[in-house]
Amino acid sequence: MICDNIKKLNNELYFADVKVTDLAKKYGTPLYIMDENKIRQKVNAYKNALKKYFGYDALTLYASKACSFKYIYKIMSEENIGIDIVSSGELYTAKAAGFNLANAYFHSNNKTDFDIKYGIENKVGYFVADNIEEINLIDEECKRLNTVQKVLLRVTPGIDTHTYEADKTGKVDSKFGTAIETGQAIEMVGNILKLNNIELCGFHCHVGSQVFEEDVYERTAVIMIKFFADVKEKYGFEAKIFDIGGGLGVRYIDNDKTLDIDKKIKELSECIKSECAKYKLSIPSFRMEPGRSIVADAGMTLYTVGSIKIIPGYKNYVSIDGGMTDNPRYALYRADYTCYTANKMDEISDFEADLVGRCCESGDIIKPKAIFPKSIKRDDIIAVATTGAYNYSMASNYNRIPRPAIVMIKDGKDFEVVKRESFENLIENDI
Ligand code: LLP
Repeated sequence: MICDNIKKLNNELYFADVKVTDLAKKYGTPLYIMDENKIRQKVNAYKNALKKYFGYDALTLYASKACSFKYIYKIMSEENIGIDIVSSGELYTAKAAGFNLANAYFHSNNKTDFDIKYGIENKVGYFVADNIEEINLIDEECKRLNTVQKVLLRVTPGIDTHTYEADKTGKVDSKFGTAIETGQAIEMVGNILKLNNIELCGFHCHVGSQVFEEDVYERTAVIMIKFFADVKEKYGFEAKIFDIGGGLGVRYIDNDKTLDIDKKIKELSECIKSECAKYKLSIPSFRMEPGRSIVADAGMTLYTVGSIKIIPGYKNYVSIDGGMTDNPRYALYRADYTCYTANKMDEISDFEADLVGRCCESGDIIKPKAIFPKSIKRDDIIAVATTGAYNYSMASNYNRIPRPAIVMIKDGKDFEVVKRESFENLIENDI
């Protein structure tokens, strides 16, 4: 099985120790199911490793763009970690869940005037500022409100990771952050330090998502700590916080590696400590912003099989009652997944077909060349694993298809945390 929370017993698939066909019957399909114990286990893997290798002031920030709804912010609040939010909508959701916004870090390469006002008024802990225009707007707004805002400056270290094109963010020509290589970042620090209503606390970078390369975080840290040193030399300013972003990869298919979070953080801490020693810098308070690696394998999507099409000499199709509206990742990135026929786990799978959705679009594919039991038929239940990250959060209403519910499983008990959208929801804003 692709993850240790997936098992089979008596021809049936179990997720987080619950028989998934029971959930499909009880809540209907398509359905997102999530494993709360797995989410907490992953949060704790980060928390413990950061504490062990960086000390008590290190902090994990859950990158909530991966999956954002009220209950998940409650989990993060109980786990006492911070959050990365990227829009006023995520801020609003976290606030509605009672999350303490002092522990929120507000990202985005283009915060609107509204975002800036809303963030400051709601006393968001930190802005992760992308560019000087934004910093000046924050400064002006703070002047008006007679307050001071803590800020991290997002810089681009010039690192090119081997991941989906859309998931690369650390290159010099990225739309995110300000480049170190061109000298713009260091110049900007000088300008920020002159502002009275901005407290520059440190620097942020994020090199990409679904990253597996051995040394990419160390290479990033080497560039970043050199930048910290250059800033200190030029302005006498020693940054207190270093936020290296998120991005650790997860296993979607058998060929993907499993990353050891503890080992990665240990190696990274050794690199940061030795780089800081080299430049005689004190070690900054460290932040990491994992999203995918906290929620991806804590999620699964259940579908009901509909029509099956066999085109002799060409190919076959198995159609399901969801598709690119609940999981656009194949359409966008050619992302691969592992899928199971949940009620036929003991049967031999040797029938090859594209697993496709119900949208009016040929690109509506969940997995090309998937393998099913020969007996696959209407009403069988398909489970697609590792869908906890960037599925619900990227879902749409294309073709006016309502978004599925999310059911959480905790200690063997299941409960809805997001209701299935209704047809009424679909026309709610139509005038
Ligand atoms: N921090 C920053 C500034 C980010 O931009 C991201 C992801 C993260 C943290 C979290 O990265 P993670 O640990 O989840 O890899 N929709 C794409 C992924 C986009 C990632 C955007 N930024 C996908 O489905 O693959």
